[in-house]
Amino acid sequence: MKIGVDYYPEQWDKSMWRRDAELMAKTGVKTVRLGEFAWSRLEPADGRFDFAWLDEVIEILTGYGLEIVLCTPTNCPPLWLYEAHPEIIQVGADGKRLQIGIRGHRCINSPVFLEYAKRITDAVAGHYAGNPDVAAWQIDNELEAYPCSCDVCRDKFRRWLLGKYGSLESINKSFGNSVWSGEYSSEAQIQPPTAYPKAWQNPALCLEYSRFTSECTVEYIGQLKAVIRGYFPNVPITTNTWFCENMPDFYKMFGKLDFVSYDNYPPVRIPENPEEFYSHAFHLDLMRGIKRKNFWIMEQLSGPTGSWSPMSPAPKPNMIKGYALQAFAHGADTVVHFRWRTAATGAEMHWHGILDHSGVRNRRFTEFEELCRTASKLETVRGACIKSDVAILYSPESEWAFKIQPQTDGFYYLEQLKYLHRAFSDYGVNVDVISPDEDLSAYKIVAVPSLYINKESVTENLYRFAENGGILIMTARSGVKDSCNNCVMDTLPTVFRELIGAEVTEYDPIGWREQTIADRYGKTFACKEWCDVMKLNTAKAYAEYTDSFYSGSPAVTENQYGSGTVYYIGTVCKRDFYADLAGRLLKRAEIPAYENLPVGIEITVRTNGKEDYIFIFNNSEQDAEFELTESMYSIIWNEQRKNIRLKPFDMEVLRQ
Ligand code: GAL
Repeated sequence: MKIGVDYYPEQWDKSMWRRDAELMAKTGVKTVRLGEFAWSRLEPADGRFDFAWLDEVIEILTGYGLEIVLCTPTNCPPLWLYEAHPEIIQVGADGKRLQIGIRGHRCINSPVFLEYAKRITDAVAGHYAGNPDVAAWQIDNELEAYPCSCDVCRDKFRRWLLGKYGSLESINKSFGNSVWSGEYSSEAQIQPPTAYPKAWQNPALCLEYSRFTSECTVEYIGQLKAVIRGYFPNVPITTNTWFCENMPDFYKMFGKLDFVSYDNYPPVRIPENPEEFYSHAFHLDLMRGIKRKNFWIMEQLSGPTGSWSPMSPAPKPNMIKGYALQAFAHGADTVVHFRWRTAATGAEMHWHGILDHSGVRNRRFTEFEELCRTASKLETVRGACIKSDVAILYSPESEWAFKIQPQTDGFYYLEQLKYLHRAFSDYGVNVDVISPDEDLSAYKIVAVPSLYINKESVTENLYRFAENGGILIMTARSGVKDSCNNCVMDTLPTVFRELIGAEVTEYDPIGWREQTIADRYGKTFACKEWCDVMKLNTAKAYAEYTDSFYSGSPAVTENQYGSGTVYYIGTVCKRDFYADLAGRLLKRAEIPAYENLPVGIEITVRTNGKEDYIFIFNNSEQDAEFELTESMYSIIWNEQRKNIRLKPFDMEVLRQ
C-alpha cells in the first residue's frame, strides 16, 4: 500500500525542496500530489507560462523515487484573470457577485473561464506529457455542484429545463406552478432558487436545480479530462471529493473518471454519547461503492485541524496512523496525507500537516514514519478487494430532496443509512454502500433507508431482489415523492406497498420526543423522530408502538415477498434496535458474524481470490482484547495470533 503527501512547493523557499524530498523518501513516502492551487505561478501573466520551478521540483522528487500526482490548478484562477474578466466570478443566490481573495470562486460554466481552464490544463498536460513518473491526475479540487446564479448559469439552466420538459406548459404542470401564482409565462421567468430559505421555494424547482448543477460539474470534469487524456492516454484521472453542502451526484461525477479519491478527515473528538455517529467507516464504504472499486484517499488527517473554525484537539496517539490504516481496511490502496508541512502563511496555517511550522520531527512525524513502515508490509494486500453480503443503498436524489425539505427534528438522511451501516458492521461483516441502480443479485441483505424519490427502475430492482430471495430492509419516508419531488397521491409507501405488505394509515413526526416500541420477542426499544402508523395487509407485525394514540399498531413489519423477506421500519430507533435486528438477520442469512466484539472494534476482509486479509481496527480510546476461533498469521508482527490485543487506534492485519 502506498502513503503519499500533499506538497505545496510554491509556498516554500526552493532551498527546502531537496531536504523535503530526501526526508519524504527516507520516511517511506511514495506519492506526492502537486499543483492544485498553483495557477498564478504556472501562468504568471495571461498566456505566459512558467514551468521551470515545477520542472525542478519534479526532477528533485522523482530523483528520490517519488511518483507524482499532477493537478489542474483550476480551483484558484489568478487575480489577473479575475481582473480582466470579472464575469467569471460566481454570483450568489442573492444575485450578488462573490468577492474574490479566497478560493473556488470561478464559475465552471463561464465560457471565458472554461477557455482559460482548458488552456492551462493543456499547457500543464502538454508540458509533462510522456513523463513516466506521473502516476495520476487530479481534476480541480473538491468540486461542488456550485449554485451559481450568474447570467451564463441562469441561461443555461433555462435551456436545460426547457430541453428536459419541452415547454413552459409542461414545466408548469410538472412543477405544480399554480401554487402561489408561480406559473411561468415567459422563459425569462425561470430562475434558479433564490437566497430565501429553500423551505419557501418550489421543491420541484430546487430538485431540478440540484440535478442541473451536478450535471454542470460532471460536464466540466469531462472537458478537462478530455484535455488531459490527449496527452496521457493511460494515466488514471480522478477528482478529490468530500461531503459538502452542495454535493454532486457521486455516481455520475465519477462515472467517467478512472478512480474515486476522497478527502478523509475523521473526527478527532470521540463522542461520549454512544448514539453519536463517530466511525468514518460509512464514508469509506460509500467511496468504495461509487465505482465498486478500490479508491484513494487524496487528503488524510495529519494533525489538529482548524482555520475554518477554531482548532480541533490534536489527534490522539495512534490516530493518524490508525485512520490511514482504517482507509486501507475499507478498500483504499493509496493514502495521501494533507499535508507534508503545515502552512506558515495564508488562511490555512492552523490546519496542521505532518510536520509542524518548526519542521522539527515531532510525535506525529514518528507515528507517520511507523505508518509508512506498516504500509510497506501491506504491499501484498494492494489491489485485494472487498466482497460483501450486505449492502446499504445511498440515493443522491433522496439526499438532495431531504436537504430541500427537512422532515422532522433530528431526522437526517445520511444518519438513517449510518444506523444500518453500523448495525451490520458492529458484527464484523463487510458492508457495501452503493447506488440503488446497482445490480443487487450478489447480496443477501440489502437495506434501503428512506428511499424518498421514486424511480421506476429502482423500484423494480428492489422488487426483483426480494422476489429472488433477498432480505430487504426499508424504512419510513420511502415512496413519498415522484421524480419531480411532488407528493405521490397514494397511500404510503405508495409503490412499495405490495413489497412491504402493509400500508401507512397516518404518520406522527415526533421529532426529538422519545417513545417506545416492543418487538415480538418481548424486547422494548426507544424510538424517535418519526412514527408511521401501519396497517397490515400480507405482512406480520415485528414490533408495535406501546404509547401515544397508536399504541398497539405495528411500527415494524415483516413480509414474505416471492422467496424473500421484506422488513419495513416505520420509525427511527436507537442503536440497540438496529443491532438486535441485524444480529437476527445475519443468522437468518447465514452470514458469518462476530458476536460481542468489544466496542469500537471494526473488522473488514479484503480478498485477492487466493487469500483473505482480515483488518481489525480498534476505533476507540480503550484497550481491546478478544479471542479468534483459530489462530492466523499477522502480517504486521510476522507471527501467528489468536488472542487479539489492540491499543487505542491500533490495527492488526491477519492472513487466513
Ligand atoms: C480540503 C481542501 C484542502 C484543504 C483542506 C484543509 O477540504 O481540499 O485544500 O483546504 O481541506 O482545510
